[in-house]
Amino acid sequence: MASAFHAVEASGIARFMREALYAYPAVEAAHIAGLALLFGSIAIVDLRLLGLGRRVPLSPLIEFAVPWSIGGFVLAALTGSLMLTAHVEEFFDQPLFWLKMALIATAGANAVALRRGALRTASTVLDAAPSARVRLAAGLSLALWTAVIACGRMLAYF
Ligand code: HEM
Repeated sequence: MASAFHAVEASGIARFMREALYAYPAVEAAHIAGLALLFGSIAIVDLRLLGLGRRVPLSPLIEFAVPWSIGGFVLAALTGSLMLTAHVEEFFDQPLFWLKMALIATAGANAVALRRGALRTASTVLDAAPSARVRLAAGLSLALWTAVIACGRMLAYF
């Protein structure tokens, strides 16, 4: 396994990420733009699902927000993976990195379950009053993505 990590770290892209002066900070800035897009678009929908801004119709809001959430996630995942290649062994040794990955998987599963389940069947009802189940999933979503951001930020300090 260690030799696989070394092979990744010795690759051209990993060396470029470590050695080019602006590569890491530029990719990190794009990572932040991606997560801002992801978290921003998800938070607006979650707040609406929690019962705020009831004047805003839910279906067009979801239709508009979801592609931006997916785009933000793809950007965050691509740039995150690029940064990972630079110091793969170090990151893989960090429990915080794995906690962040587990939180991303849980938050992603929560989003998919919400979209496929409660949101699909109950969108007309939601325009009146979100059910307790939907509000719970929306609150969980906000908490999980916030925890992902906290783990990402803390990685630099451990
Ligand atoms: C597969 C997906 C992802 C991977 C592989 C990944 C990986 C990384 C890596 C390697 C770093 C650099 C840490 C450092 O240099 O100390 C980082 C930073 C960070 N990540 Fe991710 N990440 C991913 C997705 C996300 C998502 C979805 C979010 C938030 C919703 C997020 C939030 C952050 C934050 C806040 C930072 C710190 C940025 C800074 O302090 O400048 N990451 N990530």
